[in-house]
Amino acid sequence: MRNGTGAAAPVSTQDPVVIIGSGHSGVAVAAGLRTRGWEGGILLIDAEQELPYERPPLSKELLKDGGPDEPAVLRKEKFYADRGIARLAGVPAESIDREGRTVQLSDGTRQAYHRLVIATGSRTRPLTVPGSGLPGVRSLRTRDDALELKRLLVPGARVAIIGAGYIGLEVAAAAAATGCKVTVLEFQDRVMSRVTSAPVSRHFEQLHGRHGVRFVFGAAVTSIDGGERAERVTVADGTNFPADVVLAGIGVLPNQELAADAGLECRDGILVDGDGRTSDPAIYASGDVTRFTSPIDGASQRLECIQNALAQADRVAAHITGQPAAEPEVPWFWTVQHGVRLQTAGVRHPEDDAIVRGEPAAGKFSVVYLRDGRLAAVDTIANLAEFRTAKRLIARGVRIDPVLAADPAIPLAEAIYGTPNPTDADLAAARS
Ligand code: NAI
Repeated sequence: MRNGTGAAAPVSTQDPVVIIGSGHSGVAVAAGLRTRGWEGGILLIDAEQELPYERPPLSKELLKDGGPDEPAVLRKEKFYADRGIARLAGVPAESIDREGRTVQLSDGTRQAYHRLVIATGSRTRPLTVPGSGLPGVRSLRTRDDALELKRLLVPGARVAIIGAGYIGLEVAAAAAATGCKVTVLEFQDRVMSRVTSAPVSRHFEQLHGRHGVRFVFGAAVTSIDGGERAERVTVADGTNFPADVVLAGIGVLPNQELAADAGLECRDGILVDGDGRTSDPAIYASGDVTRFTSPIDGASQRLECIQNALAQADRVAAHITGQPAAEPEVPWFWTVQHGVRLQTAGVRHPEDDAIVRGEPAAGKFSVVYLRDGRLAAVDTIANLAEFRTAKRLIARGVRIDPVLAADPAIPLAEAIYGTPNPTDADLAAARS
């Protein structure tokens, strides 16, 4: 076991590794420490009361009629007990004393740490227009948010969704399936513009259209109006959209305040290195709350995905225990809307060249993104095999022939080499 380096104050390894936040990343740090043989104490602190749970179902199965009543837990109670992972639930951390290596908790107690891991995640970006506080205006991040939204999504309800991102579209699909009348108001001119290209946006817009979801693009919401509760949403040109339920899915903000107040470097996320280390050697951060340099393309990024939450957690656990970490993985993302699965490997930049492979109307296609001739990212629709191939090729930074890549009859690996199953030597040649 390693005691760490560069400590600012005398430390006692008697003190536990304290993890603030028990979302996917925080829980994975705790589990990873034990898997890697950490024998000291581990304390998971969380503001929420519940046993840590899965977040992806909150905007999908959980909202559907006949779906589960609760999200699945990440780990059963016994998992924590068996591994000596202590939990403090419903007790938000209020501040960090870096000199004294303690965390001040909302119940008035102070918790000493040997190493601290901040895995506080992100929160929904709040809607700030007049009327945002009216009953019936909701956002979706937690189990409680999801259960309350589910209660409101009844057949015939008029649902106005602000934002056509992952949350807005997944909720639109669940609400439409329940028999709600759904209108999505999006500021940009297409759906999922942050994460994908126009052909994929168009495909999903049409898919939603076939299920009765109506879109209004270029919509700048100016107010939400009503008496006792929300009744309509008004946009800049004065148009009103009647609504019994308003859901804002307009992005997230990193929960970095604890770190920033303690003087750790933050810039739209807590800055960490490849091992999850912050600017204080005794403090790590992991998951949605972090910003770091991509080992794949050198871009500064804050990734909002479970893959990163888990991969970064493993790197933190590896560093705390003084063990080598796994090779960096290509980030990946997925969403399911009306039963159609979009899988993304890599992080697309808006200026990348986008090459469509296959016929979107057939319901199975990919969009390959090239940056300076190299495969940077891929979106696959109903094509898991191509997603897996692409992930492997992106990790190797291969060059790809755009003409061959545009032909869906040619496997992606052959679009690079003219031969399937490239050898390592082929890949090295393609990289140079
Ligand atoms: P998002 O960033 O994906 O989408 C937000 C959308 O709202 C954008 O299209 C943006 O143009 C639009 N928008 C922003 N302000 C607006 C305004 N004032 N009026 C109208 N439109 C506006 O964020 P989203 O959908 O809220 O998701 C939040 C988080 O949840 C993200 O971290 C996301 O990755 C995560 N998530 C991921 C899922 C997945 O991977 N399948 C599913 C659900 C959530």
